[in-house]
Amino acid sequence: MKVISSDIIVDSAGARVIRLSLAAPEISRKAKAGQFVVVMVCEKGERVPLTIVDADPASGAVTLIFQEAGFTTRLLGRLNAGDSLYALVGPLGHPTEIKKYGKVILVGGGVGIAEILPVARALKEAGNHITAILGCRNKELLILEDELKNASDELYIMTDDGSYGRKGFTTDMLKELLAGDKYDLIYSVGPIPMMKMTALASKEYNVKTLVSLNALMVDATGMCGCCRVSVGGEVKFSCVDGPDFDGHAVDWEELEKRNRVYSPQEEHICKLSSLP
Ligand code: FES
Repeated sequence: MKVISSDIIVDSAGARVIRLSLAAPEISRKAKAGQFVVVMVCEKGERVPLTIVDADPASGAVTLIFQEAGFTTRLLGRLNAGDSLYALVGPLGHPTEIKKYGKVILVGGGVGIAEILPVARALKEAGNHITAILGCRNKELLILEDELKNASDELYIMTDDGSYGRKGFTTDMLKELLAGDKYDLIYSVGPIPMMKMTALASKEYNVKTLVSLNALMVDATGMCGCCRVSVGGEVKFSCVDGPDFDGHAVDWEELEKRNRVYSPQEEHICKLSSLP
């Protein structure tokens, strides 16, 4: 699994977002919107799930976009063209259900913007009217604006500090749109609080809402139980039952708690390492 290219697409105030293109012909042939891969940088490294942002069967390339958030993503961000990964498994998870819904809103926050791109493209191709709402802290952290513009009929950008687009949160725009028109589907990817607020807002209008969950994973094949989430009172595994779930039925509090469980160890490893 050779790295074809690695580009830093955001480098601002300590936040780095990387676009990594990998030679993975078999995965590129099978990948569908909404699916992910699991990456191991080195033999003793952890396994990290990352959404497939683009797959090109003609060149055999698979594109991943991630923010350096912990030890492994920082290691991954330091690979260069020609380097190899220890392992890459995929495509994993159920593809997003692509069909003609009608009017669809996609809500992407932070690096979640990259994850809504393949779904926006596939839903547009299926004949849906696409409205995309992109949210980030400030202009420097915004990614893939042009790509999402091409994949959407309407595009709204929200920044926390008002440095680009409109000042405010994605849910501010979402509530405005829902109050003014009828929509058939909402698809949201981003930080857990954003997805939770999206689901709360859309519940009022009774609009079907799918969220792609970034639960912690170990084996990503349904064997370890690490990625379990409660959905509608039932235990589901994000890796094999998801990653898309009904946002109105997810137990958000439990998910938030579970995702924080290894934070102290992560901080400890990052401090011990020599990575900047
Ligand atoms: Fe182990 Fe999903 S990661 S069951």
